[in-house]
Amino acid sequence: MAKLIIVSNRLPVKLQEKEGELIFKTSEGGLATGLGSIYKEGDNIWIGWPGQVVEEPEKQKKVTEDLKKENMLPVFLTETEIKEYYEGFSNETLWPTFHYFSQYAVYEQQLWETYVQANQKFCDAVAEQAGPDDTIWVHDYQLLLLPSMLREKLPDCTIGFFQHIPFPSYEVFRLLPWRKELLEGMLGSDLVGFHTYDDMRHFLSSVNRIVGHGSMHGWINLSSRSLLVDSFPMGIDYEKYAGIAKTEEVGRRANIYRNNLHAEKVMIAVDRLDYSKGIPQRLDAFEKFLAKYPEFQGKVTLVMLVVPSRDEVEKYKELKEEIDEKVGRINGKFSDINWNPIQYFYRSYPLETLSALYRMADVALVTPMRDGMNLVCKEYVASRHDQSGVLILSEMAGASKELSDAILINPNDINQMVEALHEALTMPEEIQKVHMSSMQETIKRYNIHHWVSMFMDRLSYVKIKQLSMATS
Ligand code: ADP
Ligand code: F6P
Repeated sequence: MAKLIIVSNRLPVKLQEKEGELIFKTSEGGLATGLGSIYKEGDNIWIGWPGQVVEEPEKQKKVTEDLKKENMLPVFLTETEIKEYYEGFSNETLWPTFHYFSQYAVYEQQLWETYVQANQKFCDAVAEQAGPDDTIWVHDYQLLLLPSMLREKLPDCTIGFFQHIPFPSYEVFRLLPWRKELLEGMLGSDLVGFHTYDDMRHFLSSVNRIVGHGSMHGWINLSSRSLLVDSFPMGIDYEKYAGIAKTEEVGRRANIYRNNLHAEKVMIAVDRLDYSKGIPQRLDAFEKFLAKYPEFQGKVTLVMLVVPSRDEVEKYKELKEEIDEKVGRINGKFSDINWNPIQYFYRSYPLETLSALYRMADVALVTPMRDGMNLVCKEYVASRHDQSGVLILSEMAGASKELSDAILINPNDINQMVEALHEALTMPEEIQKVHMSSMQETIKRYNIHHWVSMFMDRLSYVKIKQLSMATS
């Protein structure tokens, strides 16, 4: 039977060492949490890195066996590959460039060469598993070369590629020394998907200007075949988030958390530690808000969860220090014996805790400088069991295209964020409910299952169309 092979750099679980034993924990990040709900069906398989260096053949064997039971197959990366392919080219070259932080980007030939080598390693792992009728779905910027590598090995196979982060404008993308090779890598796909129409438009413009292939209604005609480029805004597993938030246990926990905070109003922010998430800018806005509206001092608390991410990369280390310093300064300035303006937690939390925090919070602050989609804001909306609550959302997140009932802000405009905080904290409940229920309808309809079937249906359509083009 034909199967779906999902390939991404990171598996939806990550290995951790506990008391000498290797255990699996759920990975954070939108790709893992979003697709985590769908890959276990039938013979489907997810191929990716288990998040740790595993060198000993015995351990590798054990990890492989354990993962196999859960429909996963590991690609073991070496220390050098993690340093140069994952932390290096993926997260010090591509990530900053694609998020419009090109001043942070490093351009090093050695990192590029290891990126090519690691993509080849993923290609070999996939080729070993792929049958002629299987569909291969490659995810994200760590694997931009994989579609064309697979095409070379398996010329007739069906390959979809989805990018979870923004695609920058041509003027930014062209800064990359390996721009042509990266685009050619992606063009090995039959279908290339992005979260938004703008990402798609930027990609097509770069393909046109750098590789010289024009497009018509998203179709690019190569000499050997045609491929389609389209936008597919990713959703969440709405029923999962809405269902868990409604449970008695989550309600009980939400009450306990809330009582312990000694605040009339609670705001929540949940992010990976990343400069693209706008965490310092949000803290500056909150500090300014407390100074401008002193009547909220002692009354509003921001619960800020930051999950550690890419902590070997220099810019992430610097950001961690900046956040620690700002939180300390703001709390030092405004706290009193019974109240802290910010409750800051630098760790990952299980879904039940996250759900209780979403359920407890009157306001969610999602203020990235740039974000492909952002699933946290959708998780918050899905968790609002009584339709109260206000979402403050950055225009720079892909999700803002769908969630126009949020209070939309530009994260560079601190004064606008200050006023958005005031508006959110004083919004009458009946108005909150109008906006929240409209956002819930959108997220419920365009959920993760809808997203997967839209992508898969379009991929099948491309294959049929390619056949009819070849015979006409
Ligand atoms: P990104 O993919 O850039 O990390 P998203 O907002 O799309 O951003 O996805 C982040 C995912 O990680 C969400 O599903 C969110 O619930 C999860 N997450 C973020 N922070 C934490 C945390 N502290 N504990 C548990 N999960 C977290
Ligand atoms: O959604 C974007 C993304 O970079 C995914 O590709 C990735 O798995 C996730 O964020 C978390 O990042 P990382 O895998 O580097 O921890």
